[in-house]
Amino acid sequence: IRTIGVLTSGGDAPGMNAAIRAVVRTALSKGLKVRGIRRGYHGLLKEEIIDLSARDVSDTIQRGGTILQTARCKSMRTEEGQQKAAAICKKYGIDGLVVIGGDGSFAGAQKLANLGVNTIGIPGTIDLDIACTDYTIGFDTAVNTAMEAIDKVRDTSTSHERCSIIEVMGRDAGYLALWCGIANGAERILMPEEHDYDEAAIVADIKECQKRGKKNYIIINAEGIGDSINMAKRIEEATGMETRATILGHMQRGGSPTCKDRVYASVMGSMAVDLLLQGKTNRVVGYKDGKFVDFDIEEALAMKKSVSQYQYDVAKILAL
Ligand code: F6P
Repeated sequence: IRTIGVLTSGGDAPGMNAAIRAVVRTALSKGLKVRGIRRGYHGLLKEEIIDLSARDVSDTIQRGGTILQTARCKSMRTEEGQQKAAAICKKYGIDGLVVIGGDGSFAGAQKLANLGVNTIGIPGTIDLDIACTDYTIGFDTAVNTAMEAIDKVRDTSTSHERCSIIEVMGRDAGYLALWCGIANGAERILMPEEHDYDEAAIVADIKECQKRGKKNYIIINAEGIGDSINMAKRIEEATGMETRATILGHMQRGGSPTCKDRVYASVMGSMAVDLLLQGKTNRVVGYKDGKFVDFDIEEALAMKKSVSQYQYDVAKILAL
């Protein structure tokens, strides 16, 4: 390996810059050249490729977003796009590529590996929905950002004795919802993985909670369930309790990364370079059972992950 390329792909996540910085500086320290690819695979196909020095990543570890920009690229799903991307890597002498993103980004990396480009994936998404790893870059920051925002909603919700529905991100996964549900002491967590979504039961529970002297009722709604605004109207009508919906939206994806996201992303970035130098390809870095590990991308993509039923049950009990 002589030249390493690095790109970020899919939704940005706080901590991606720490990973880029680690890739750049680890590679340079081992005598390699580093090329940054702007706007993910989209930028690769458009040859938006720049050289990166140690100074180019100065003052970035604390910044949210990604200094390389990111994109979701449909062409990378086609054989033509994949062939073109591999040819561009060869043209620029990129013989090792680090892809920071989610499952979709790893699928692209796998195709490139089959076409002769050595690739390593690093899990970066606020959704935590990558099966091979207990940690993804950005989740810790996002969940803390959401938690702080929900605390603020709770203050006004309690003052007005309202029901508040707070919608968090996560696509089809309920990790952000579940963690906030526990951290914010929510009465209800609605997430795609729980199939017992039952509005009549929520209405009955709100009435029950009012009898028990609760001053407010917090519902954390995963965006995979969605429709918080109409849900609020229906619940208000059925319970007589004033109900407001708050959709946290993209503020959850921004902001300065937490210590954990900076540290884990740095370790994963360095590890990706080390794996390439060990001659490995078509691998994804993960954090499992307290250790940084790596998996074959195909195996990683075939793995299944589910939210902890026990954690969900705990949340229910603590909503007493
Ligand atoms: O995957 C990260 C994520 O923020 C999801 O939680 C959300 O569903 C999606 O990206 C939003 O994507 P976009 O920024 O393209 O609207």
